[in-house]
Amino acid sequence: MRSRPAAAAVAFVLALLLAPADAWPGWRTLSARRAPERVPGGLLFRAEGAVVSVTAVSPGIVRVRCARGEAFGRDHSYAVVAADPPSAVAVETGTTRSRVATPTLGVEIGHAPLAISVRDASGRLLDEDDPARGIGLAGEALRLDKRLPEDTHVYGLGEKAGPLDKRGRRFGGSALAMWATDVPGHDAATDPLYVSVPFYLALRGGVAHGVFLDSSFRSSFDVGKSSPNRLAFEVEGGELDYYLIAGPSPKQVIERYTALTGRMPLPPRWALGFHQCRWSYVPEARVREIAAGFRRRGIPADALWLDIDYQDGFKPFTWDREQFPDPERLVSDLRALGFRTVVILDPHPKKEPGYAPYDSGLAGGHFVTRPDGSVYEGSVWPVNAKRDPGPSVFPDFSRPATRDWWGGLMAGLVRTGVAGIWNDMNEPAVFDTPSGTLPLDVRHDNEGQPSDHREIHNVYGMLMSRATHEGLRRLRPGGRPFVLTRASFAGGQRYAAVWTGDNTADWASLRGSLPMLMGLGVSGFAFVGADIGGFMGMPSAELYTRWLQAGIFSPFMRAHSHTGLPDKEPWAFGERHTHLNRRAIELRYALLPHLYSLMEEASRSGLPVLRPLVLEFPSDPASAAVEDELMLGSDLLAAPVLVEGATERELYLPPGEWFDFWTAEQLAGGVKLRRPVTLESIPLFARAGAFVFRQGPVQHSGEAAGQPLIVDVFPAARSEGVLYEDDGSSFDYQRGSFARRRFVQSCVAAGCTIEVEAAAGAYATPARPLLVRLRGETPRRIRLGADELPRRDARQPDREPAGWNVTPEGVALVTLPDRGQALALRTER
Ligand code: GLC
Repeated sequence: MRSRPAAAAVAFVLALLLAPADAWPGWRTLSARRAPERVPGGLLFRAEGAVVSVTAVSPGIVRVRCARGEAFGRDHSYAVVAADPPSAVAVETGTTRSRVATPTLGVEIGHAPLAISVRDASGRLLDEDDPARGIGLAGEALRLDKRLPEDTHVYGLGEKAGPLDKRGRRFGGSALAMWATDVPGHDAATDPLYVSVPFYLALRGGVAHGVFLDSSFRSSFDVGKSSPNRLAFEVEGGELDYYLIAGPSPKQVIERYTALTGRMPLPPRWALGFHQCRWSYVPEARVREIAAGFRRRGIPADALWLDIDYQDGFKPFTWDREQFPDPERLVSDLRALGFRTVVILDPHPKKEPGYAPYDSGLAGGHFVTRPDGSVYEGSVWPVNAKRDPGPSVFPDFSRPATRDWWGGLMAGLVRTGVAGIWNDMNEPAVFDTPSGTLPLDVRHDNEGQPSDHREIHNVYGMLMSRATHEGLRRLRPGGRPFVLTRASFAGGQRYAAVWTGDNTADWASLRGSLPMLMGLGVSGFAFVGADIGGFMGMPSAELYTRWLQAGIFSPFMRAHSHTGLPDKEPWAFGERHTHLNRRAIELRYALLPHLYSLMEEASRSGLPVLRPLVLEFPSDPASAAVEDELMLGSDLLAAPVLVEGATERELYLPPGEWFDFWTAEQLAGGVKLRRPVTLESIPLFARAGAFVFRQGPVQHSGEAAGQPLIVDVFPAARSEGVLYEDDGSSFDYQRGSFARRRFVQSCVAAGCTIEVEAAAGAYATPARPLLVRLRGETPRRIRLGADELPRRDARQPDREPAGWNVTPEGVALVTLPDRGQALALRTER
């Protein structure tokens, strides 16, 4: 007779033999212990030591939530702002499988192990947990393994170095972490960076879905790294709480993701101009010199930035009165020249009794504490002050009252006339800890449910930018805030633009900036840019010019430099490059009407302005990994020159008809091209049917009013474009004071009709000339309504109210007075 222990041993060996080949060392797979329970919107499963719910939160979004223990904790998120319960949720329960379905998504849940598969309305499989693993538990950590089919591309995950496709096949998969980190001089292999967005978009055979892991704890994503056909994500604490987001197009995934986490608010129009920064422009005479330098050379610019040295001993909310005796006067003099002033504000008030932000912060309990309740002190910039250096304290931005207090501290800066605020070092960076940030046991309010830094670290920067944004809204209620932040988190697009931190002045960093910015765009951040010219080190004249030419297409366009380096302004590289750099910035300003319209679209749809090709051409396999070209909106493709000494640019045009923007040469897409380039070249292509909205030369965005509106029209059988305008600074557009105008084109063999609809909205655009440039063809005759337009000699001074001519470059140019009225042009070929 066998003894019981022997039977157990046999059973154990049998279990091992029967276990899936890749048993899961260290992890315990969850299985339902009994039949699921109905909860609003879905089902709840009870497993050994954990609960799991699957609920529909909108017709295209299903939430999967897993917590240790018998019940969920507080349902709280720093990222999610809106979820509308779906009108129709169908729930079925079975003995081994159950189902939760919305009109768009069907989720089938296997009970043992608890593993889901997701299908769209037509039954097509979108996503599937590894059926042998599903959700795993190990100590504080929770993990989920999903299948990663070989032909799936993965995009997003926020601010990430390296390839656009996060699967990173060339590197044998990627393991990427979410943990805000100050990483000066980052390169293609650096991970993590400053911003954490645990959201990815998966694309397979042209069909997309998204996954958003709503956890502020440290998390990691293994995208085909440990196993080429598996995508796993893991949280180090808290719940495993994620959203499955339907497409089918990548754009729909982004629209849904940003409906959930919010969208970039429309920025002031000046913020789309050129920004000049340096660590640091001091004293004020130097700032004035820079301003005069732009205007004297006729190089357009809208903003000058003051880095940490404007402050007294690097103390936030102070001015160094020796270097800046009268900031108000400086700011208003700059304003008179058409410059806005943006100043840096870091999250590290100095510990110094008598310094008002320290005193009021201490009195209000606004600083983070150690577990014993004492205020935490650490070294940041104030420890480097020449006079009286000392440690800093750190506001607890996870406490609403602290955000209000911080916002209020900016009253002085707002009175001084400062136009925007730059939040830096907000990972937060700390100089004297081994981790470079706050110790993990530092205490935070966590919006009323006290916690430690493990939970708040990743949202610290976003919450700082939130405090800044909301403070500016209160202090200047009529004006749109402008905030730039280095660290942020999913949903941070609601508060601030993001730049990619301390990059390097080398060609690899220029090339790497494109996929990084496009990845941010896919992750909900539409207002993004990289330091033009590179922050660390000195670029060659050629690299600076090429970076500026590429930077035209960044929604946020700022040149910056590390301290101690030679001058890096657009005129610092010799006369020839001054000319080239001016031309590049002029192109940016020419495109402002187009860019502003795209930004307005982004504020409503969440779609990025700077887009990877794959967003526009999801079914084109060749577009999937293109990361050295970009789309500006749907209609413009830029292939900036990113290689030193280039004499030609190899590029790919996706399927369809294209035009060279400069020459209107017609090009067939779906092929690779080689185009000869010179230092002047900014290869730019328009999709057939594009309407490109431009303005004439200006020195800053405020000069645009009354300038001609220029519309380049590239022919197509049928197309439309939308121009959006408003006052550029207030919130009146939210009460109807905007002008949105549709331009519709249809062409047949005999010619084209271009209808410009009357502007929708109450904003009266200034009276101005409308210049329509018909690209790619020269008609015989043009009519405005029923009347033939007079054809004029290009050299004749333009005295007629309306007419057309052929420019010396061979473009048919129609000139009309524009007061926002409807009109129709007909061309005869
Ligand atoms: C950080 C910022 C950089 C800034 C410097 C001084 O390195 O990333 O942009 O110039 O601090 O404030």
